[in-house]
Amino acid sequence: MQACSDIKVDIPVEGVQLIQLNRPDVKNALRTQLLAELAATLRASEADAAIRCVVLTGGEVFAAGADIREMAALDAIGVLNDERPEHWAAIRNFKKPLIAAVNSYCLGGGCELAMHADVIIAGDNARFGQPEINLGIIPGAGGTQRLIRNVGKSLAMKMVLSGEMIKADTALASGLVAEVVPAAETLERAIALAQTIASKPPLAVQLAKEALLQAYETPLFSGLALERKSFALLAASEDRQEGIAAFTERRQAHFKGQ
Ligand code: COA
Repeated sequence: MQACSDIKVDIPVEGVQLIQLNRPDVKNALRTQLLAELAATLRASEADAAIRCVVLTGGEVFAAGADIREMAALDAIGVLNDERPEHWAAIRNFKKPLIAAVNSYCLGGGCELAMHADVIIAGDNARFGQPEINLGIIPGAGGTQRLIRNVGKSLAMKMVLSGEMIKADTALASGLVAEVVPAAETLERAIALAQTIASKPPLAVQLAKEALLQAYETPLFSGLALERKSFALLAASEDRQEGIAAFTERRQAHFKGQ
């Protein structure tokens, strides 16, 4: 695994990049340097055709939120001019599929980071929470907006206003996570899912992700129009011909992203 300080990067199987948050001593607290490295890595991954899906993990603990010590040094003007929103934007705009493999604490900015992923696979020991209220602040990296869309009003209000954590089973029932697996298998399952996605036609995967995310942004008729245009666009792709030919010829398809 190649170490780049606050994160570690690896290719566990062809087509899949694994990014591991690497500040275990502070429960992967998300200092600015970590976010900057993560954003830069994702920008590079986007340009690398060999990478088709990314898995993000924290190892034993996903992340306990923003680095409180670093945050304490910022006054209002420091927060206003902070570079962090740019790094969050790079993560938000990542075009390839991003899977979060979450074990143990997934709090504050950690929960917000997991919600930037397209799919969350949780270990049965996972704990999700937005405890910012205990520090006299509120979530600042999309937590109020994404949580309510992901889990609904009542649970989002409970989590943000009380700071109470929820367990993996509640996260599953509310739709925050796609699957709960034994904690020892979280990463393995996330990589297996990433491998499946990596075997699919990359253009269709990219446009499907874009269309799904548009559901948060646009009224239904606009979302449906985008879906239809993307559907038409894919009719011009070689991968569509290959997929249909492979089905007809009863063989495995080989997609090239063309
Ligand atoms: N920022 C900076 N340091 C953090 C941190 C954070 N968000 N979360 C944990 N740490 C550090 C602790 O200060 C401690 O460092 P130390 O050994 O130098 O004292 C180390 O990580 C281990 O944490 P500790 O609290 O001893 O572990 P724990 O198992 O008892 O509790 C948590 C784990 C996650 C429940 C607890 O650390 C916590 O509540 N963290 C803050 C969560 C939070 O409020 N996040 C939102 C931030 S906006």
